Amino acid sequence: MNGSVPRHVAVIMDGNGRWARHRGLPRHAGHLEGMKAVRETVEGACATGVEILTLFAFSTENWKRPNDEIEALMGVLQTFARSERDNLVREGVAVRVLGELDRLDGSSRAAVRRIMDATRGGSRLLLNLLVSYGAREEIARAARELAVQAKDGVLDPEQIDTDTVASALYTGDLPDPDLLIRTSGEFRISNFMLWQLAYSELYITSVYWPDFTREDLFAAILDYQRRDRRFGRIVTG
Ligand code: IPE
Ligand code: IPE
Ligand code: MG
Repeated sequence: MNGSVPRHVAVIMDGNGRWARHRGLPRHAGHLEGMKAVRETVEGACATGVEILTLFAFSTENWKRPNDEIEALMGVLQTFARSERDNLVREGVAVRVLGELDRLDGSSRAAVRRIMDATRGGSRLLLNLLVSYGAREEIARAARELAVQAKDGVLDPEQIDTDTVASALYTGDLPDPDLLIRTSGEFRISNFMLWQLAYSELYITSVYWPDFTREDLFAAILDYQRRDRRFGRIVTG
């Protein structure tokens, strides 16, 4: 029992398609409905004092989905950026969008830029949206960056340690997630934050993402507070 509120919560938002199928709706209806769960989770994070919320919105592998589905997901990103902007500014939420953003279409890239610019001053909650993101690609990119620095003579290869690598990731300036939540009952990581999750507590719920509420977030946090985080040590006393 540690009793503390996780400082950084990460979520693999999964199950939009199945949520829609169970209702006889097209998949994009599930993606649209998923925005409500994002709102719930942001409010729940602010209410509990979580400092960083990282949401996996679109993976590198999701580019392999059919075009109409990709367009629907990018449409949801743009709608979210437009419809949530004032709420997020008022709540003091700063949005950062991380991933291979040069793969996005022009209007999605513009929406990303606008929401980041508009919310830059937020100091209550940092909301990271991982879009066109894959952990292996992120690590390869960090390796490339460090290799260039070594080649240019500004980095001594002998000095590269785990902190050097961590700081070259998209999340370089952030603490690792304390708690990872995955919805829709899938027990896998799906190329999400492979480096940063080394010691995160995992919480899997069968709830489909569009049905996820702040109460579900509170339940995950309560479960986290019962965990004994040992980080490889033994418990003394
Ligand atoms: C999550 O829901 C959204 C993304 C992965 C982009 P899915 O679209 O994966 O929904 P399921 O897993 O097919 O139900
Ligand atoms: C993981 O969900 C990616 C996101 C939530 C954005 P997927 O639905 O793409 O993962 P798999 O294919 O079931 O592993
Ligand atoms: Mg899925």
